[in-house]
Amino acid sequence: MNKQADISIEDLAEPLTYPVEAFLSPEYARAERELLWPKVWQMAGRLEDIPEVGNFFTYNILDESIIVVRTAPDKISAFYNVCPHRGRQLVNTPEDTNGVRGRKQHFVCGFHGWTYDLEGKNTFVLDPQDWKGALNEERTCLTPLKVDTWGGWVYINMDPDCEPLLEFLGDVDRILSPFEFEKMRYKWRQWVIYPCNWKTAIEAFMEPYHVAGTHSQLLKYGEFYAYSKAYGNHGVSGFDERDPELRKAGGTSVTRAGGAKGSDPRVTSYELARENFETLMKTGSTDTLVNAARRLVDELPEGTSGPDVIKHWMASARADDAARGVIWPEMTAEQQSEAGLAWSLFPNQTILQGITFALCYRSRPYGDDPNMCIFESYALERYPQGEEPSTEWVYAEPTAENWGPVLAQDFSNMEWVQKGMKSRGFRGPLPNPHQERKVTNFHRVLSQYMGTGSPRLLDK
Ligand code: FES
Ligand SMILES: [Fe+2]
Repeated sequence: MNKQADISIEDLAEPLTYPVEAFLSPEYARAERELLWPKVWQMAGRLEDIPEVGNFFTYNILDESIIVVRTAPDKISAFYNVCPHRGRQLVNTPEDTNGVRGRKQHFVCGFHGWTYDLEGKNTFVLDPQDWKGALNEERTCLTPLKVDTWGGWVYINMDPDCEPLLEFLGDVDRILSPFEFEKMRYKWRQWVIYPCNWKTAIEAFMEPYHVAGTHSQLLKYGEFYAYSKAYGNHGVSGFDERDPELRKAGGTSVTRAGGAKGSDPRVTSYELARENFETLMKTGSTDTLVNAARRLVDELPEGTSGPDVIKHWMASARADDAARGVIWPEMTAEQQSEAGLAWSLFPNQTILQGITFALCYRSRPYGDDPNMCIFESYALERYPQGEEPSTEWVYAEPTAENWGPVLAQDFSNMEWVQKGMKSRGFRGPLPNPHQERKVTNFHRVLSQYMGTGSPRLLDK
């Protein structure tokens, strides 16, 4: 909300392209299984799912299943979900669940009863004397892996020599930590097994260049000109303003609506907030923001300037939230401006953040098939203490009824991109160097993990 458009935008020096095999080739998908997923920090879930000691959830990636467990009030551990005796999965995680959750004092294997404490240490073997002393702590404990937390998310990494999570996140930590995502809670969460590559899916949410073509209902709120910027492994995008007059007024997608020529900013601010909220499954804004926007016409005289409308709107929404116990994070205009609108954290986490809410996506490969993925979307919001809703992962077919009209519009591209890229008539992607830079940066980082060539220059 209320971001400034006046930010420095780094263009790629040259237009680039990258190989389409990354989306289509079964060999490439198999290589990712060895070169990418076991080597990269991946978001496994949210801390709110494991509030008490003994609470755990499982996170599945390809054939791996990971148990993430709270071992002490301030300690999280992660183990491979396998019993070291003869390899039974310790916590059954069926494929038709999006991971499982529970609470245990210890983990008991269902096959021969070997038992582990929350730290993964073996506490029971039936008839251990039969091994004639060959069983030691090392052989009988669960196999741990790296785990860390940021913004209320839990991240795991299977590479024992990986860089620390904060190093991997780089500027993301500095720029996004002020939003205090750790104070937000799930509002809803949905998942689907979807017919496209996991990269095709996550790239559908990497750039706002598609807004005009895909979400054309938003065009009535202004001219959306996107920017996209790389921060190391990760990237951010937002909207710039073509009209220098409006840019001076400090416009972005929201404030531009407030400042659109020939319209009443008191009305357009409300209409855009309401449109986002209603078409994005009650996210992209909050009840507080929409209600405060609805009152703008009553509270402000006709002719109030766009920036003044926004200022009043934000002040009254902040006061409304404070009255119900939701305190906004303190952020300067510069901090909000630098944060842009939407982040892509390599490899597969997307965060569209607002002052008290976030809309997030994640995609993962599904089996060995490069044409299938697990796609998830969830909304986070700050709630008064004790009023957080209790939510579960809901499997939802990709329809407008289940996901709202905006996500349905995105779904209406993804499987057709996957199909189209297979054509022998497709000469390779031509990503926009300015507005789709996140996509090329994603392929640059991916190529480093995969040991393939970096995105290459387009001949001119
Ligand atoms: S496989 Fe777990 S106790 Fe035997
Ligand atoms: Fe979209």
